[in-house]
Amino acid sequence: MIIVNPEKCLRCSKCIKDCIVEVLKAGSDGIPFLAPELEKYCLNCQHCLAICPSGALSCHGVTPEMCPAPGKRPAPQEMLNLLQMRRSCRLYKDENLPSDTMTALKNALAWTPTGCNVHNLFFRVIEDKEEMAFFREETSSMLKKLIKTGIMSLIYPRFKRYLAEIMGGKDVVYRNAPHMIIAAVPQKAPCKEADPWIALSYFDLYAQSLGVGTCWCGFAVHAFKWNRKLKKHLRLPPGYRIGAVMLFGAPAVSYARATNPVNFNLEEEK
Ligand SMILES: Cc1cc2nc3c(=O)[nH]c(=O)nc-3n(C[C@H](O)[C@H](O)[C@H](O)COP(=O)(O)O)c2cc1C
Repeated sequence: MIIVNPEKCLRCSKCIKDCIVEVLKAGSDGIPFLAPELEKYCLNCQHCLAICPSGALSCHGVTPEMCPAPGKRPAPQEMLNLLQMRRSCRLYKDENLPSDTMTALKNALAWTPTGCNVHNLFFRVIEDKEEMAFFREETSSMLKKLIKTGIMSLIYPRFKRYLAEIMGGKDVVYRNAPHMIIAAVPQKAPCKEADPWIALSYFDLYAQSLGVGTCWCGFAVHAFKWNRKLKKHLRLPPGYRIGAVMLFGAPAVSYARATNPVNFNLEEEK
């Protein structure tokens, strides 16, 4: 339901023009309303609420006062610095992040975009480094079994160089990270391939802006698919599947410079 305060409404129609699903119409008095027969198409994206210059519009129980005031954006060079200096962190301090940092990281997940604005991602955050021991030990014993049976070399020939290290107990999967976040998605979500990766890409950049080290963990995605015990430990809601996994924690390493830019083959202008 959309509620418009007629005293505050400027009748500027910005909300109507910005509605992706065109469910807002102007009444004879110029005040926008949500056509009842179209309500089912509303994505609840809150663009109408966000764009309203006078804060006249509330949307499905959300009032303008409930939304953060516009903050100063990072300058383009600051944003570019963040992109250039973001590195995969594989060396972590053996400590939990401060709880306020953890809370800030979790709270920021609320602003991840999702396809069709279907916000039904599930995030499992390993907040205590002691819990990582379960994943580490279970994955390590699985990998050791795969190595002993020769299966490992067959399915992951590139791993051959690391077999001795894995057998020796090196944590090549979780890199001794104290924390991990798993983004899971309903099997039936309209954009199930993209949503988890986008969510953790946002998480990644925000974490690195806070000085938190991060690393994508494609290996963990594989491990969870192969090992029931690991997957069960995640306690995903029914019908959900693992999308993306990221390690994070206080970094034990810092970088003196950015890397050399990758030369993508951008199409040249004709
Ligand atoms: C989809 C994806 C999966 C990845 N999986 C892993 C992984 O399992 N373990 C790991 O150490 N790094 C992983 N990475 C990190 C890449 O290896 C890393 O981005 C690359 O080496 C470049 O380093 P940079 O991130 O510091 O620029 C992954 C990256 C992506 C995008």
